[in-house]
Amino acid sequence: MGNKIYIFDTTLRDGEQTPGVSLNIHEKLEIARQLQALGVDIIEAGFPIASKGDFEAVKAIAQNIRGPVITGLARAAKKDIDTAWEALKYAENPRIHTFIATSDIHMEHKLKMTPEEVLERARSMVGYAKSLCPNVEFSPEDGTRTRPEFLYKVLEAVIDAGADVLNIPDTVGYTTPGEYGAFIKGIKDNVPNIDKAIISVHCHNDLGLAVANSLAAIENGAQQIECAINGLGERAGNAALEEVVMAIKTRSNHFNCHTDIVTEQITRTSSLVSHLTGVQIQNNKAIVGSNAFAHESGIHQHGVLNCRETYEIMTPESVGLKKNLIVLGKHSGRHAFEQRLKELGYANLNSDKVNEAFVKFKDLADKKKSISDEDIEALVKQEVFQVPENYKIEHFQVSSGNNMVATAAVKIRYNDNSVDEASCGDGPVDATFKAIEKAVGIDVTLKDYFLKAIGSGKDALGEVTVKIEKDSKIFSAKGVSTDVVEASAKAFINAINKMHYYLYQSESSATHNNETLVRI
Ligand code: KIV
Ligand code: ZN
Repeated sequence: MGNKIYIFDTTLRDGEQTPGVSLNIHEKLEIARQLQALGVDIIEAGFPIASKGDFEAVKAIAQNIRGPVITGLARAAKKDIDTAWEALKYAENPRIHTFIATSDIHMEHKLKMTPEEVLERARSMVGYAKSLCPNVEFSPEDGTRTRPEFLYKVLEAVIDAGADVLNIPDTVGYTTPGEYGAFIKGIKDNVPNIDKAIISVHCHNDLGLAVANSLAAIENGAQQIECAINGLGERAGNAALEEVVMAIKTRSNHFNCHTDIVTEQITRTSSLVSHLTGVQIQNNKAIVGSNAFAHESGIHQHGVLNCRETYEIMTPESVGLKKNLIVLGKHSGRHAFEQRLKELGYANLNSDKVNEAFVKFKDLADKKKSISDEDIEALVKQEVFQVPENYKIEHFQVSSGNNMVATAAVKIRYNDNSVDEASCGDGPVDATFKAIEKAVGIDVTLKDYFLKAIGSGKDALGEVTVKIEKDSKIFSAKGVSTDVVEASAKAFINAINKMHYYLYQSESSATHNNETLVRI
């Protein structure tokens, strides 16, 4: 088994810094619950000083999630640390994570501070954080581009001031595995009090080396890896949690260490995060891509049929990919449907949600001969993460062709009012979106549109993801249907409902007077 490696998940902090990603408090809580089921050791829940929404989300996670350490990020400044503590103090196991840049380039051009000032700030702020919270992590930002002798001094000082964990970030994804491994070894050999702290690593993926660098650090004495589901994070992202964990598990003979991750929860976590962030997973992504366990060539298929290990180094089951046990179709009853939901991990759905999902299932079964697990998951996720449907599409009709202008007519219901609108556009989807915008009375910017088939076959469900922007905030939502224009319309109205909910109904923005809301 070897040493335990602590898995620090930063999906909700660095991961949420992924361009175009914005999660509301309910979505963050849902992800945090799933991270708890996944067995991560530490959840970095956000950056509390960054916004009121971040603060509330960190606080809600600290209040509701038991088991993992809950941490929040803070610059090495009193106000940041106080705010982080204000949100984290409810946690069963709180940790303050404070940072300051230590590379010459950052100190000179960003902080405009001398190395002596940075050293003093790091020492005093770690001491201050420790006076509030029993567990403190310190990160020297841009660590890998920091002069080693200076870094050793800073690390020694912050350990003396009470830091329990020292995280060495490769902030710009610049290092290479051999270099980073030697860098970590240098810290172990040259920081005199290093045995009093845990060494952590945090690698960005600008050169595609984040996972390799993290693993090289493990080989040189690091005990904590900071990573994010699906490799989300700033720019090219962070080390992908699922890749780091499965590398350690599959090659435990090489790394001689283990994690406590429940690997069977990986697929579920990855798909939840993709669903809620709207960030698609590339087909050939290691571990969680749709091709990760698919064998296309005849030689490979033959080999796997004879002996799985010929071409499979880990089993699909070990990451939670399940086989279809019984195919559901239009003659399947509620009981079989509910049973399948339980097998797929949706055991705690209330009966209203199950009923709604069952109605949609029956509706789909009329259009499609056999319903796969992927279809059911797509339907049920729509129910589980549905914000109140203030705006509903009652009816839509499109007309399009190669020699005509596409037109769409829609009827949208808001409370007891229905509004009819029509528009033409650049194709049926554009026309439908424009007609919906007119009916709802808002103007949003469409930032992203993605259509994929769930499963295969001509009758496959189409799943559309849209991202819309309003007031510099991004809202992402999905819609599914066997008709891709309908899936698009559903995704668009769902995104508008999310925006409406965020702006006017969620607890963190309870200032709006609903009476005035006929149209947004
Ligand atoms: O990449 C980075 O340096 C960070 C730190 C704040 C840990 O995200
Ligand atoms: Zn980072």
